[in-house]
Amino acid sequence: MEENNLAKSNLKSNLQPKDWRNGIKVLLSEEVIQKKIKELAEIISKDYYGKNPILVAVLKGSFIFIADLCRKLTIPVIFDFMAVSSYGDSMVSSGVVRITKDLDYSIENKDVLIIEDIIDSGRTLNYLVKNIKARNPKSIEICALLDKDVPGKFKNKIKYKGFDIPNKFVVGYGLDYAENYRNLPYIGYIENNF
Ligand code: IMP
Ligand code: MG
Repeated sequence: MEENNLAKSNLKSNLQPKDWRNGIKVLLSEEVIQKKIKELAEIISKDYYGKNPILVAVLKGSFIFIADLCRKLTIPVIFDFMAVSSYGDSMVSSGVVRITKDLDYSIENKDVLIIEDIIDSGRTLNYLVKNIKARNPKSIEICALLDKDVPGKFKNKIKYKGFDIPNKFVVGYGLDYAENYRNLPYIGYIENNF
């Protein structure tokens, strides 16, 4: 994380144990999320039966989703991680996508499944797919937990999708606001609270 972002996030460190969830409304409960993940895992396990795909998670937001999803899969998978910086700590897209951590492995001739937490404008994913395609994988598909309803989205073909959600800024289940709230077991939204 860049220094200025960390500084902003430290401003949030006055969140207190008793009230840190205040003002966050539940959009998708823990139960609803877990049920969907089980369904997605069944489909993915079937589609990739006999294969050994590489799951490429986009950090940090996807870390909880991939952890839950992978443990419901019944096929062998390999993990790799990429980190991109697209937002800083703002709630509005900066329009800039920068790889801050690249893959550890070559994905040439491999089946790649990108695991994303949320698609907002779609810019990050659009960039990542192009970047990964250039490395000649055997196949490339996308699994995204959330797809936000925003106007003028970049087009991406999402083969495995969890939920379509309204155009709200959401937190929890890996998603942050200024690095906080990632550890909520549900997904909630915040409106004019920050
Ligand atoms: P995109 O490039 O506009 O699609 O933005 C994608 C990335 O922005 C996601 O992977 C998240 O890290 C972040 N992001 C977008 N919307 C939200 C949100 O509502 N809450 C938290 N992070 C978000
Ligand atoms: Mg983020």
